[in-house]
Parts: sequence; structure tokens; C-alpha cells
Amino acid sequence: MVSALPPAVIFEQVSYKYPRSEEYSLKKVNLRIEQGEFAVITGPSGCGKSTLCKCINGLIPHSYGGTFKGKVIVHGKCTLEHPVYELAQLVGLVFQDPESQLFCSTVEKEIAFGLENLGLPREEILARVEEALDLLGIAHLRYRAPYELSGGEQQKVAIASCIAMRPKVLVLDEPTANLDPLSAKSVLDVVYALNKKLGVTVILVEHRLEMISHLASKLVVMYRGEVLTQGPPRKVLFSWKILEIGVGLPKPLLIALMLAEKGFPIEAPPLLPEELVELVAGGEER
Ligand SMILES: Nc1ncnc2c1ncn2[C@@H]1O[C@H](COP(=O)(O)OP(=O)(O)O)[C@@H](O)[C@H]1O
Ligand SMILES: [Mg+2]
Repeated sequence: MVSALPPAVIFEQVSYKYPRSEEYSLKKVNLRIEQGEFAVITGPSGCGKSTLCKCINGLIPHSYGGTFKGKVIVHGKCTLEHPVYELAQLVGLVFQDPESQLFCSTVEKEIAFGLENLGLPREEILARVEEALDLLGIAHLRYRAPYELSGGEQQKVAIASCIAMRPKVLVLDEPTANLDPLSAKSVLDVVYALNKKLGVTVILVEHRLEMISHLASKLVVMYRGEVLTQGPPRKVLFSWKILEIGVGLPKPLLIALMLAEKGFPIEAPPLLPEELVELVAGGEER
């Protein structure tokens, strides 16, 4: 990771309580995500993942109100000191339910919408729309109506609309929650490719750890409004504690935990089936 650049996102002792809420939804959250990282955030339902996402583009506290303590700094900008429309150019946010974000009559218009609002020249808008369609592999959907697309296709359109704005940070809040496994994999694959091709920092809230944790540069586990642990995915996930709080561990890792209990030496916890096979059968002649 390039450490000479300022971090993409910093949370400093962030606590947040929604208006009329009794309890804090975020409690003294500290987080640091470098530029170009592929960070995955996970944790049981209600632990504060979506609340954390909304802090990154300033929706919290600017649009939600409530009680906000601490600081969120995105590319050197403290979110408290910059309005949401300005932060929105830095941070793209994709939600769980793509239908709630799509409202134009064609995919092309959908992707162009945000760019038109920026007041960009026509040629620039067209060039960016075409680039986003290609990056997401959805050029064939250009003139289709978003509402008639599959969930996975819709999610790609939502991501394309964000990417066309050239954000430095792309935040995706459970983008695969409503998708079948194959569509989920396809969406996660394009998100990973965007991270690698464009260098855009990705912050992805995801439950499907078996599909994505081996690709993450950092894994953050949240629990009851707090960051329970963060670090390299293998290290963070190789723990019964993570399973106990309700995080679905990748199966190879679960098996490795059981093997470790039986005294089997596990140097590098496996995240993929082939890594588990290598661990158990590695070096042995067939
Ligand atoms: N708009 C809101 N008003 C009040 N409380 C909320 C609101 N949104 C979420 N919460 C509460 O904040 C906590 C964290 O929610 P959320 O960030 O949505 O969790 P997650 O995304 O991890 O499921 C939950 O207890 C939830 O009930
Ligand atoms: Mg959520």
C-alpha cells in the first residue's frame, strides 16, 4: 500500500446517536483506510455498518442530524466542514437496493444524470458514460430501461452511475444482499476490477465473506456500534469469537479452526477451499 499519500478515510473516535434514539449506533469508532485499499466491513445485522457508510459522505450528520462526536476525514477533508454535495464528488455510495437509486428511463440516461447535474460539457458526459458502461461490462444494456433489468444488472448500473462521477472512494453497502450467488459474484468481481484498474478506494459492506475476504486488503468487524477488530482478513477471521458474534466464516477457515483445536498446526489460515486442501494435503505425494 502506498503510505506517502494521505489516508482515504479516517474515523477518529466517532460516536453517533440518531435523533430521538436512546442508544449510540456508533461508539468511539477508529478506522483508517489508505488510498487504493479494498476494505471489507462485516458484522451482524444492526451493528452500525450502514450508519458508518453514511458518515463517509457526510449524510451523517448533515442530513440526519442527531448527536455526532469525533471526526471523519476523507482525503484530508473533515466531513463536518464540507457539505454533502461537495463530499458526494469524492465519495460514491451504492446501496443494497438498486431500485431505490434508479429512476431514469434508460441506463444511458441514468449514468448521465449525475454528470449533467455537474454541468459537464456534452462530449465529456458521453465519453464518461461510455467509459463507465465498458468498465462495468454493461454496454449492451445502454438503451434498456433500468426497471426491467435483473437485480445484478441494476446493481451494476448503480455502480456505473457512481463511477462516472470519478469518485476517489466507492462505498458499497451490502450491494449483493438481494442477489443470487452467481449475480453476487459477478458484481463483486467488477467491484474488485474497478479497484485494481482505477485505483479507486473501495469500502464494501459484505456478508458473503467466502466470496470476497481473500481479496480484501483489510477486514473490519463491527459489533454493537464498535469496531471489534480490523486488520488482514486471515488474521482477523481466524477466531471463534468472530463466529460467536454471528459472522458467517468462510468454510475453509471454520474447518481450520476445528483442526487447530485438535492440535493441527495452522500457519496461514485458509480462506479458499484450495488453500485448505493445500494445508491438509500439501507436500504429500498422491
Ligand atoms: N434512521 C434511524 N433512526 C434511528 N435509529 C436508526 C436509524 N437507522 C439505524 N438505526 C439504528 O442504528 C443501529 C445500527 O443500524 P445500521 O447502521 O443500519 O446497522 P447495520 O447496517 O449494521 O445493519 C441499529 O440499532 C438501528 O436500529
Ligand atoms: Mg445495513
